[in-house]
Amino acid sequence: MDVGKNQDIKNVIQNEIVKIKKIDNLTNLENSKIFLLGKNGIITEFMKSLAKLNGDEKKEKAADINIIKNEVLDLISLKKTELEEIELNKKLAKEKIDVSLPIYNIKVGSIHPISHTIYEVKNILKNLGFEVASGNDIQSQWFNFTALNIKEDHPARMMHDTFYVNNRDENGENMVLRTHTSCVQISELLKNQEIINTGADLKRISVGKTYRSDSDATHSPMFHQLEGFYVGADVSLSHLKSYLMEFCKQFFEVDNVPLRFRPSYFPFTEPSFEVDIQYRKQDNIIKVGEGDLWLEILGCGMVSPYVFKNCGINSDRVYGFAFGVGIERLAMLKYGFSDLRKFYAGDVEFLKNYGFKK
Ligand code: PHE
Repeated sequence: MDVGKNQDIKNVIQNEIVKIKKIDNLTNLENSKIFLLGKNGIITEFMKSLAKLNGDEKKEKAADINIIKNEVLDLISLKKTELEEIELNKKLAKEKIDVSLPIYNIKVGSIHPISHTIYEVKNILKNLGFEVASGNDIQSQWFNFTALNIKEDHPARMMHDTFYVNNRDENGENMVLRTHTSCVQISELLKNQEIINTGADLKRISVGKTYRSDSDATHSPMFHQLEGFYVGADVSLSHLKSYLMEFCKQFFEVDNVPLRFRPSYFPFTEPSFEVDIQYRKQDNIIKVGEGDLWLEILGCGMVSPYVFKNCGINSDRVYGFAFGVGIERLAMLKYGFSDLRKFYAGDVEFLKNYGFKK
């Protein structure tokens, strides 16, 4: 740039300033910046050429061009902010999501058959007046066995049935993974001892994990049980029968489910029964409530006076029934699963095919 032609360069810069004001994208702005202020930009070159001048002329021209240079720098910086804001807004507009739009084609998970069955049984029994109680998976031997009148030498206590854990209770005895949900009877009876002794009713259910050292197509070392019990001054065997009939009707969704009460033995109930439901098989599918075959589904009985005594309840005035059902068994019967191990294989395909939608 010729130092002599000061006016020329000013004109070039002014022209460029007019252009910059109209620029609508950052690339062009950058190009203008390089054109004016880059290493070989016209302002830079002009500044360099001033070196040849001397004294006052140099000072004067330098001051002159510096004013323009600062004007250009301010303009570029302003323009840059303005363009960046425009680009950001464009980007935001493109990425905008309307969260109020309905959901299409979204793959949702499914509910595991066991969770679904638990939900179903709880729902039915809650509607029949039972409140839901819960207990820990790890129990003392007293809660799991002794209080339920299962004596020290009972085979269920032996190593091949029960998982003993290293934790010990306050008496130094090994704790166990509960082998059934009947221990919730004990905790609930103890908790409600006073009101039960006044003759008031207590209706509870509890569903949860139970553990036994057993594994094949119909046994899993971890399985789920539903425990239900009803204690009060007037509770009798006929209550047990009618509640179970109502439960089975609602669960299997049939009008009539013939039940067979077979005498059995549980240390914590007296008398004790195993209950069979009537069914027939059609193309390998079980039809509950029809036919002439019988299948065991649950254990039950009247709460033993020993259990009441162990929980500080007056067994002369209070009666009760209790029942215990395997959730896996109920699910297998209602939905036609034949191998219980499928429930716990963690197989996504199984859940895709057999999982439930809400
Ligand atoms: N706890 C028993 C079992 O696991 C079932 C049962 C519960 C029986 C309540 C009678 C009363 O086999």
